[in-house]
Amino acid sequence: MSSSPSEIKIAAQLLKEGELVALPTETVYGLGADATNAEALHKLYRLKGRPQSHPVIVHLHSLEQVIDWAIELPDSFFILAEKFWPGPLTMIVKRASGVLEEVTGGQDTVGLRMPSHPIAIALLKEFGRGLAAPSANKFGRISPTTAYAVKEEFGSELKMVLDGGACDVGIESTIVDLSDPLFKPRILRPGMILPDDLFIAVQKRPEDKKDAGKKESATESVSPRVPGALPSHYAPATRTDLVPSHLLQKTIEQYADRKSLAVISFSPLSIEGLNASNLIVAEQEPFAYARSLYANLRALDRLKQSLIIVEEPPQTSEWSGIRDRLLRASSK
Ligand code: TXA
Ligand code: MG
Repeated sequence: MSSSPSEIKIAAQLLKEGELVALPTETVYGLGADATNAEALHKLYRLKGRPQSHPVIVHLHSLEQVIDWAIELPDSFFILAEKFWPGPLTMIVKRASGVLEEVTGGQDTVGLRMPSHPIAIALLKEFGRGLAAPSANKFGRISPTTAYAVKEEFGSELKMVLDGGACDVGIESTIVDLSDPLFKPRILRPGMILPDDLFIAVQKRPEDKKDAGKKESATESVSPRVPGALPSHYAPATRTDLVPSHLLQKTIEQYADRKSLAVISFSPLSIEGLNASNLIVAEQEPFAYARSLYANLRALDRLKQSLIIVEEPPQTSEWSGIRDRLLRASSK
């Protein structure tokens, strides 16, 4: 059930009053707060249970708003904005003066994203300011991809959750760091906008001919300020193991108490003792897999089994965002 225009108006008003509102985006649901209101941001950190030093992404509906948030924008920013915004891409750029420390985590950069979900865009237009919106989950937990999952996270602690149905992308945006003019864009968090999509777009820049011949793949480096970079993140409460395809059958057969296992595999399994209702056969195609990943993990987590076993996806670049989330979900 999609939220109505009048609910969006109410949500924008609540945001202006410094309240928190959850909203759908095409990636995952966000927990929105006025990014110009320090009090609202403190409330956001408290509700999420997130350490204050972690920066939040500012969501915008128009390129004209960027001037309030960022300076010294490189050409690559405009190229990528033109190609991928609105959409599941966050760009880290030099922050403008006056951007709150609560937004930047005390760094000299800011993360900007223009989401494409129609309810997110409508809310951002109605609200008019930049909206801080981390994923709408308690710190360390799986991001929600439905309004129901947001309510599961926060219950009555949260006044309003706009409902925009299930998220289309299903995992968080790709984050690319453009803040260092000496370096090529660096991927801080892989997502469903793939490394090659980004580098092909940026290398097409005409004034960058000298680099056009260089074959460069994404250097996926990790900033300590990206909480997603903590080894255990996006994690179900149930212990989760990632198992290569060729070991899947053997690994499951090792368990005496197979009834207490939950499994996500790429093809149907018939192993004696496995409880069929604890099995999910996942999509073979990466975009479809990403779309249902968190809903699948949440569904299996609710079963409160002793272990979730996930068959490892291929090691190709289309799967890089998905593999990243599964590795974090499965690390202890
Ligand atoms: O798809 C998404 O990006 C979702 C939706 C709601 O837009 N949002 C999201 O926000 O995933 P969050 O806060 O859960 O994750 C944002 C990540 C964090 O790991 C944060 O540390 C990083 O972005 N980040 C934000 N600003 C940054 C900055 N200036 N430098 C480095 N990392 C930054
Ligand atoms: Mg998050």
